[in-house]
Amino acid sequence: MSVKCTFFKRSVLVALLFVASLFGAGGNAVEIIRPYNKSIIDVNSVTVVIKIDDHKVDKLKIVSETGDVYEIKVTSSKDVYCKNIILEYGVNTIIVRAYANGKKLFQKMLEIFYRFPPYRGYKYPPGDFKKNYFHTTKSEKLCSRCHKMNSNEKKGIAFENPKESNCYNCHKTIFLGKKYAHAPSVNWVCSSCHNKSRSPYTKYPVPKKLNQSCFDCHKKFRKKFFSKKYKHEPVLVGRCNRCHDPHATPNKYFVRLKVKKLCTTCHGDKVITTKKPGSKCAASSNGSCTDCHNPHASKRPFFYEPRRHEVKEEKKKKKGLWIDE
Ligand code: HEC
Ligand code: HEC
Ligand code: HEC
Ligand code: HEC
Ligand code: HEC
Ligand code: HEC
Ligand code: HEC
Repeated sequence: MSVKCTFFKRSVLVALLFVASLFGAGGNAVEIIRPYNKSIIDVNSVTVVIKIDDHKVDKLKIVSETGDVYEIKVTSSKDVYCKNIILEYGVNTIIVRAYANGKKLFQKMLEIFYRFPPYRGYKYPPGDFKKNYFHTTKSEKLCSRCHKMNSNEKKGIAFENPKESNCYNCHKTIFLGKKYAHAPSVNWVCSSCHNKSRSPYTKYPVPKKLNQSCFDCHKKFRKKFFSKKYKHEPVLVGRCNRCHDPHATPNKYFVRLKVKKLCTTCHGDKVITTKKPGSKCAASSNGSCTDCHNPHASKRPFFYEPRRHEVKEEKKKKKGLWIDE
């Protein structure tokens, strides 16, 4: 996003905040329980939970950064309304409005930061944003009246029907529009990763030693990566999730971005130096970077390995994508 664009957004924001304060008076009747303003989120969606004590309210509207408008009908029999909102990378402004007979009674704005590590610009949230974990006894109490908050997973056993997982209803948006999904996630055995470490902040922490937890299942890859002389730095420091989304993505092998884009978000500058005379690097061509480079490790400098499309299908199956005899 350009600087100009950010400035434009800021000024709109100030104007909207002013409007919001005008409507603040009737605000107590409509309470946004979740999410907290200025939260950092590490997945593509956030849950908005709204509590209504004013029986005049008959409609809610949520407007997201993507421009989507989520309309919710309010009935007298229900006091809590929940919606999953799709996020864009970086700062998202979410506006919640409440109406009675077409008249706006209430408006509030929230800012949420969707952290996306492959892009430097979306890796570091502004200083006033922080992580607000959800799965604590205190906040789960707000939901347990209507939702089952415990895990009903049998260790390591896939759900035949994902809807049977207690996590499904609230977290199904992780897979929305994603063509390639990682087996343990799409089978809803979420605790195979989210139960590995202890945390004072949440029941379902993200594993501390990430590559360790990947290698728990992908055993042969530990040796395959670490026995090699040259190891790619993000692999060496255990950040498999810099490149792979542990849940699902639109890309094969659930890499977060198409390969060329993925590599050049970190190596944009290098791609220029590889244009130096004599370089065999074809970074500026249309070829995929992984036609020549193994993304993990190699016995050769620059992880230079033979082209993948020359690898026969059976060999691919047996040995993986790259020949490393
Ligand atoms: C008064 C009952 C009630 C309470 C309390 C409640 N919910 Fe819900 N929630 C529902 C119902 C009913 C649905 C089914 C979807 C609908 O509204 O049609 C739902 C759906 C959801 C969804 C799926 C939304 C979507 O877009 O598909 C999420 C996520 C959710 N709730 C989260 C929460 C969280 C988090 C809390 C606690 C902070 C909470 N709910 C408290 C009744 C409740
Ligand atoms: C009633 C809805 C609800 C249910 C049921 C639910 N979650 Fe969540 N979960 C949330 C909300 C809300 C967040 C905060 C992020 C967001 O807004 O989407 C969250 C966050 C998380 C996080 C991030 C850490 C944290 O505490 O913020 C993990 C991991 C997670 N959930 C896993 C699970 C697993 C595994 C299950 C099933 C055993 C589950 N959740 C069931 C609503 C729910
Ligand atoms: C293979 C390991 C793995 C599995 C399986 C897995 N996750 Fe995750 N999850 C992670 C990691 C690692 C992160 C940290 C963010 C990232 O790297 O994308 C994460 C992040 C999250 C977050 C956001 C955390 C935050 O603090 O904002 C939620 C919510 C979540 N996972 C829910 C789930 C649910 C629900 C399932 C089951 C359908 C699941 N995960 C299965 C590894 C996993
Ligand atoms: C609970 C076990 C488990 C954990 C933990 C796990 N995986 Fe997987 N993963 C699987 C299974 C099962 C498959 C599908 C079978 C296969 O192709 O090996 C798979 C497939 C994959 C694939 C696609 C491989 C292919 O050839 O199609 C990639 C990439 C991958 N996982 C990366 C990761 C990363 C990165 C982590 C750590 C964040 C991780 N996995 C953690 C079980 C796991
Ligand atoms: C620098 C980015 C990057 C990092 C970091 C990374 N991977 Fe990958 N991984 C890739 C790419 C790119 C592919 C292949 C996608 C393609 O070529 O279409 C891949 C493919 C894979 C495959 C399937 C490949 C095969 O040979 O069968 C597995 C399994 C895998 N990665 C696991 C991991 C694990 C485990 C980690 C952490 C220790 C990790 N990756 C870290 C980029 C990365
Ligand atoms: C998360 C950032 C990140 C991503 C994504 C990434 N790399 Fe790297 N890469 C690094 C770092 C850090 C180093 C080590 C320092 C350096 O040489 O810049 C490195 C080193 C390298 C080197 C060795 C450079 C040398 O001088 O020895 C090559 C080749 C390379 N990466 C290729 C790739 C390819 C191909 C991809 C895509 C599959 C990729 N990288 C994706 C961060 C990344
Ligand atoms: C046709 C094969 C080929 C393709 C395709 C290719 N490379 Fe290279 N790359 C090489 C070779 C060979 C080297 C070793 C050094 C040299 O010859 O300049 C290299 C070197 C590098 C280096 C280290 C250069 C340095 O100055 O430190 C990086 C980083 C790199 N490549 C990234 C990429 C990225 C990112 C892509 C995709 C956009 C890519 N390469 C595509 C063959 C290739």
